[in-house]
Amino acid sequence: MSVEIKELGQAVDQVIDVRGWLHGKRESGKLAFLLVRDGTGICQCVVSAETSAAFAQVGDLTQESSLTVSGRVRRDERAPGGFELVVTGIQLIHRAEPYPISRKAHGTDFLMNHRHLWLRSPRQAAILRVRHTLIQAARAFFDQRGFTLIDTPLLVPGAAEGAGTLFSVDYFDQEVFLAQTGQLYLESAAMALGKVYCFGPTFRAEKSKTRRHLAEFWMIEPEIAFAELADLVTLAEAFIVALVQAALTHNRVDLQVLERDVGALERVQAPFPVLTYSEAVERLRSDDLHLQLMQELAADQARLDAWRSEEQQLTDRMAGGGKKWQLEKWEREAQQLHDRIRELAVDVQNRPLHIESARTFAWGQDLGGDEETILSRQFDRPVIITRYPRDVKAFYMKPDPADGRVVLNMDVIAPEGYGEIIGGSQREDDAEALLTRMQAEGMNPDPYQWYLDLRRYGSVPHGGFGLGLERTVAWICGLKHIRETIPFPRMMGRMAP
Ligand code: 4AD
Ligand code: MG
Repeated sequence: MSVEIKELGQAVDQVIDVRGWLHGKRESGKLAFLLVRDGTGICQCVVSAETSAAFAQVGDLTQESSLTVSGRVRRDERAPGGFELVVTGIQLIHRAEPYPISRKAHGTDFLMNHRHLWLRSPRQAAILRVRHTLIQAARAFFDQRGFTLIDTPLLVPGAAEGAGTLFSVDYFDQEVFLAQTGQLYLESAAMALGKVYCFGPTFRAEKSKTRRHLAEFWMIEPEIAFAELADLVTLAEAFIVALVQAALTHNRVDLQVLERDVGALERVQAPFPVLTYSEAVERLRSDDLHLQLMQELAADQARLDAWRSEEQQLTDRMAGGGKKWQLEKWEREAQQLHDRIRELAVDVQNRPLHIESARTFAWGQDLGGDEETILSRQFDRPVIITRYPRDVKAFYMKPDPADGRVVLNMDVIAPEGYGEIIGGSQREDDAEALLTRMQAEGMNPDPYQWYLDLRRYGSVPHGGFGLGLERTVAWICGLKHIRETIPFPRMMGRMAP
């Protein structure tokens, strides 16, 4: 009988089979320890030369070979997962060729080129499990609140979020585009069903290589008839709390593998701070903030110096030689330290410019990633910023009746410098005003007549938002770069595998 590794606790003292792949092995005298993974967990399998003929096979097993291991399940607190297998037999299914990804350090490019194999590493599997949880929780959140799922088209005739990031597709000799959002279609469904959401891939030809941008990413977008900005703020807050709670409930072990500070996630409770854009600008320009940022910079400079001398010591130690496993361990440490140093060095070098641009930030500019990072570091939970200048936001956003320079929108900025995870707004619900705005933006209204129709036949106040799944995964998992949040990332400069 074969048992999944996560279910081993239910088979204590039974003789069972575990089917999986060899993650690693270690031999020590008359004992061999195999680490076998099956996608549900990792199981330590103990092979004794004295009690099992299988011991003779161990030498032949290569990393990532597929196998069935038979044995008796034993409780052992020291084993990963709390149980181990006392092996009675090993059946090799396929002996793997020398595996390209070893325990030694690999560069990002190498790993990205081997993404199809890299997914097998415990870290990557943990991320994918968190992603799965968030998808499930997102659906459950809207389903339980009476929203209807609407699938919006991926091939569309025009832009919704600015023409600059459109991918064009040849559609039977006509130029069409990959959808940047499902929103416009979703608005029409909201007029039919009241509360709706879509959840699918969206596309942006972002011509910049940043740690926050993908060319293909998944977005979950609710849209609600009769909703106003305040309703959207409340909903976004409850939604984010639900996502974080789901990960904390279902992915404790994965978050541990990722070395995520779960305390930071536990602090993500409603209410979130809400500021207007104008208040955010005031904060950015304030002397208090400036002083604080300068102090942080000095502290980071000192940290960088300390790491550099640590690196020097490690290099000296390695030059002195040692056992193979020891050298490999130091090499991994050195690589990690080197990456951290490089990252912080770039950060420290760029920071004075960011600090200066915060201090001189002019009302009317869009908040960029740097300003978002500075603002988000002021809070221990996501911060919601509302009422941005009309001119930096999309044509469909409704201007604030109390101040026509700004729109009734919100961006939700994740803590710890992860940037914007939600963008949303109340929509312009007046046909004339929308048409005027489109013309002012230089848009051709013809392909949007159907969208204007929604304002001609029983128009109501309405709105919604979009949450970027990958940015949310990056934040909740504590990842430095968005490329690890999706199985096969599509970014500028990467299309393989
Ligand atoms: O702020 P955005 O552009 O909003 C919209 O698309 C609206 N139509 C949504 C709506 O109101 N229904 O994008 C929403 C979110 C961002 O906050 C971010 O999390 C994510 O989508 N996002 C990206 N994620 C990864 N890579 C990119 N290039 C992204 N662009 C946006
Ligand atoms: Mg946005």
